[in-house]
Amino acid sequence: MRMLHVLGSLASLLAATRAVNVPYDPSPFPATGYITAATVNNASDILSGGTITINGVTVVVPRNLLVNTPSLTAVAWSELFKPDGTIDLPLWPEVNWEAAMYANYIGGQHVAGIIYILQEVGNANAGFITSIDYEKGEFRVGGSIGDATSGRRVVINDPIGRFGKVHGDWPLWSADTESPSIQASTGFPVCLPRVDPAVEDDPLCPKKNRPLDSNGQPLTGFTFDPPPVAEGRPDPNLFAPLMVGDFIIYSGTTVPDGDDTIIAAYSIEANLGLYTAHGTTPAYLRIETLQAGINGNPAGEIAETRVEGYTTDETATIQIFAIDVNPCTGEESERSWGTAVPRQQGRRGQWLFRSSDASLSPYTREVGVRIAGGAIATPNQIMAGQYISPYPPAPDGIIWPELNVFGDPQIPHEFNLLPFLAQGSGPWLGGIPGKAQTATGPNVGPLDPWPGVGSAPAAVNCPSLDPLAPIASAGMDLTVFTGTLVTLTGSTKNDIPSDGLSFLWAQISQSA
Ligand SMILES: *[C@@H]1O[C@H](CO)[C@@H](O)[C@H](O)[C@H]1NC(C)=O
Repeated sequence: MRMLHVLGSLASLLAATRAVNVPYDPSPFPATGYITAATVNNASDILSGGTITINGVTVVVPRNLLVNTPSLTAVAWSELFKPDGTIDLPLWPEVNWEAAMYANYIGGQHVAGIIYILQEVGNANAGFITSIDYEKGEFRVGGSIGDATSGRRVVINDPIGRFGKVHGDWPLWSADTESPSIQASTGFPVCLPRVDPAVEDDPLCPKKNRPLDSNGQPLTGFTFDPPPVAEGRPDPNLFAPLMVGDFIIYSGTTVPDGDDTIIAAYSIEANLGLYTAHGTTPAYLRIETLQAGINGNPAGEIAETRVEGYTTDETATIQIFAIDVNPCTGEESERSWGTAVPRQQGRRGQWLFRSSDASLSPYTREVGVRIAGGAIATPNQIMAGQYISPYPPAPDGIIWPELNVFGDPQIPHEFNLLPFLAQGSGPWLGGIPGKAQTATGPNVGPLDPWPGVGSAPAAVNCPSLDPLAPIASAGMDLTVFTGTLVTLTGSTKNDIPSDGLSFLWAQISQSA
């Protein structure tokens, strides 16, 4: 009897570790689908993991996984939940929410490595702006010109008022307020005036930046004068106002607005050909296409790496760089990938960087581009001439090696090749638009449980944590025109008390 008992428990142990009988484990699980459920393990642990269920498959969300929302790069999983642990997405569950992810089926369960969350295919839409309510800071798209009651109601989701009036109830779904996601096709930033231009001018979104043609209609394309900007002429240091009649492509989140709903847009591309004079600052650029061909398993075909976009100056040289993050301190450093210049034929200002060079690896959470000659702070508090972007969800974004021989075992996603997942990214400091960054926070370590092949990556040996070396950051180097108002921001890391600290900036050069 005793013997039988032992055999019985051995059999149940085997059953538990082989819950599902599959031909091989691990295998890749790339998936896009509707979210039917989501949980957080510990809502008071900012870096907590949980689970997400899409199309009926429940996937483990490891601790330390930072999700991508449409315009933000690194949102903690727990930020998608209320303090009581229930899901906190606008209009959930009346409106569909989706996840796109890269996970592996490993050890008998699905475990995620990268997750994108968005509402209903991003409500991607296009049409003419047919009316603007300056009082409310909202506009209508797809109605009848001048009719304030027809068309879809849209606001710019902007918790800090970068592009117009503040709309900050849903900061996780906000526009990118640093590398503007509210822009003309060329990359020139656009805005919605905070006051009715017929009554008063918005100095940061001035009507002079949309000159009129001889019929009194706003021009949909022009080139700004080289500096110095003459009185009353369009000023490339300031954003350009959106106007009735503009054709826009926009994406956003449907959010409640009283008894109604409204689209809170996180990205707008206005069909405007706004260019800056050759070789002048400020000039602007944007990334339109971003994909990483991961140099992984040789059983797979490696995709090309592409960084492509537009600039307002077709004579600019564009520098392209990966942004490495120190897993202990969170400090960022740039690693050059090369340069690109706009095409001489085809669309004006379009630049393309394509490479299969294995030395581009390791791939980082974000990629940056900058106009050679430097970025410049503008009165709207953005860095003109610089654009930082995370990888978007499939079909662009991270492209894993694709199986060379059909029928061979599928290649699991090699998350070990991505240091921001395998090693982590330093202290969690928060700082979504409209919320202050904290001076210190828990360390974002490797994903746990580890979703990749092989054993979990070895812990990074961080220098003595007690005390951490204090880091004072005076912000990036700035180049500005004389007379431009610049806000300098200093910050500290690693929990140095801020009282008694002072920051010092020095002007290191001045051109004639
Ligand atoms: C939840 O997280 C908080 C904050 O990190 C921690 O103090 C607490 O012990 C955790 N609770 C459980 C049950 O692990």
